[in-house]
Amino acid sequence: MSTIFSGIQPSGELHIGNYLGAVKNWVQLQDRYECIYCVVDYHAIIGSFEPDDLRRRTREMAISLFAAGLDPEKSTLFVQSMVPEHTELAWIFNTVTPLGELERQTQFKDKAQRQESVNAGLLIYPVLQAADILLYRADLVPVGEDQVQHLELAREVARKWNAKFASELFLEPKPLLTATRRIMGLDGQSKMSKSLGNTIGLLEEPDAVWAKLRPAMTDPARVRRTDPGTPEVCNIYHLHKAFNDEATVEHVAVQCRSAGWGCIDCKKVLLDGMMRELTPIRERARELEAHPELVTDALADGAARSGKIARETMRVVRETMGLR
Ligand code: TRP
Repeated sequence: MSTIFSGIQPSGELHIGNYLGAVKNWVQLQDRYECIYCVVDYHAIIGSFEPDDLRRRTREMAISLFAAGLDPEKSTLFVQSMVPEHTELAWIFNTVTPLGELERQTQFKDKAQRQESVNAGLLIYPVLQAADILLYRADLVPVGEDQVQHLELAREVARKWNAKFASELFLEPKPLLTATRRIMGLDGQSKMSKSLGNTIGLLEEPDAVWAKLRPAMTDPARVRRTDPGTPEVCNIYHLHKAFNDEATVEHVAVQCRSAGWGCIDCKKVLLDGMMRELTPIRERARELEAHPELVTDALADGAARSGKIARETMRVVRETMGLR
């Protein structure tokens, strides 16, 4: 069976953009593959952060992932810093990675440009990501478009290390691109993202979701209640497609084009659809919050399983390279 590996930053509670764009797919993959998923806290310490805040965000991310349906019986979920072999392998990979490749990474260039002081971690971020994936000899990595260049680098690192040590240890992983189009934020302008404050949290109560949905951007040309709308340009319509069945989506489109419904009517139907899917997730999360030991145990178990594979890979790496 193929092995899947993917990682997610510990940004705290998941939002529906992360959920629809990535995590929902992760949940579906568990039935068909050997899946290993990781909350990448080593990646999250490159910029400024508060240790207590990092601890909280890591935990909240793990709770969100379990609540969203990652099942410790089917797949492995762990926190990256519980398996220190990730950083060990990253160091080794640094020694086979061309500096020029790292400097050419778009994400590095973008971020470096926006910061006055850049640390070496930002440059070697993709090397750590390569180590994450290659440690488990993963074949497939479900990611978005923005990570394809990092995966290309991981493939190169695998080739370079294998060639240098005449080994076939590392596999070249392939991206598994998620079909979902990117989920726009409530402003209807930019990608849903925590830093832009345009998100709906996966675990938010219905009242809180409604307070955000109600004023959310719709078709800008629809000024009066009686103006007919164009569903295709409306972000709310795209969310209907994610949360409601085809017949409902079709009905929404008809009501919008004919001005049969106002935007508020339309949003109420969206709220219903969203809550049908999100209420069980929210309830699972509340239960995990009430029993913190369940989360602690599941993560320890995940780290034990992934650690076993990681230590075995590192044993071979050390042996092959003449390290002690
Ligand atoms: N760089 C990824 C992101 O920002 C997170 C990540 C870290 C990752 N390690 C990974 C993704 C390994 C896939 C595989 O989204």
